[in-house]
Amino acid sequence: MPQDLKAAEKLIVALDVRSLDEAKEMIRKLSPDVRIFKVGMGLFTLCGPDAVALVHDNGARVFLDLKFHDIPNTVAHAVRSAAKLGVFMVNIHALGGSEMMMKAVEAARESEKRPKLLGVTVLTSMDQSAIGEVGIERKIEEEVVSLARLGKESGLDGVVASPNETGLIRKNLSKDFIIVTPGIRPTGAEKNDQKRVMTPKDAIMAGADYIVVGRPITETKDPLGAAKKIIKEMES
Ligand code: C5P
Repeated sequence: MPQDLKAAEKLIVALDVRSLDEAKEMIRKLSPDVRIFKVGMGLFTLCGPDAVALVHDNGARVFLDLKFHDIPNTVAHAVRSAAKLGVFMVNIHALGGSEMMMKAVEAARESEKRPKLLGVTVLTSMDQSAIGEVGIERKIEEEVVSLARLGKESGLDGVVASPNETGLIRKNLSKDFIIVTPGIRPTGAEKNDQKRVMTPKDAIMAGADYIVVGRPITETKDPLGAAKKIIKEMES
């Protein structure tokens, strides 16, 4: 069960770096204390599967954050490909609908090394007026819970949720539904461009199974020290 994980296993570090060499250096600095790295669309578009292999070669796991959103057949193909890379987690947009999600789940389940499949509900960069622009009239919170529920019914293993939504989703969905929460800032850290943030400890208390942390670790002089501090903060 995710919620029984040790603190060190709950930390996902976002590898938002600009080259494979920078990624190599960061993984080297953080291993073996950090066990999961997030490879996003920037690094993956630049380096492809080499970025994933780099993490695996260092004995860590990968959350492949590419947020697939396309017709069901194409998304299923992409999930199958991600599974072949041996990633631990991969995500898709819940707005793609239940048929798309079910096909993605089927693709993940038929793979030898089945990745955890997560849904993205409403992007945290969108506010009420932005979702109104694309024709969604419901309140953001209702939309998020409703999409998370649809994801669960379609067989997803969990969702990526902002600190604002973590508690709400945990309250409305069962305990075994994984919640991965970015927008984490340890006490006293820079917020950067994140508007709504939570401390590692508060996010875990609100129901997050995993937290995603980028700049508060990767853009400090001592990334390993920062990671260790966050793990300790979760344990306290
Ligand atoms: O540097 P920072 O800790 O803000 O990095 C957070 C990571 O999580 C980034 O890779 C960002 O793209 C990602 N993310 C996020 N908010 C979401 C989904 C993903 O910050 N809602």
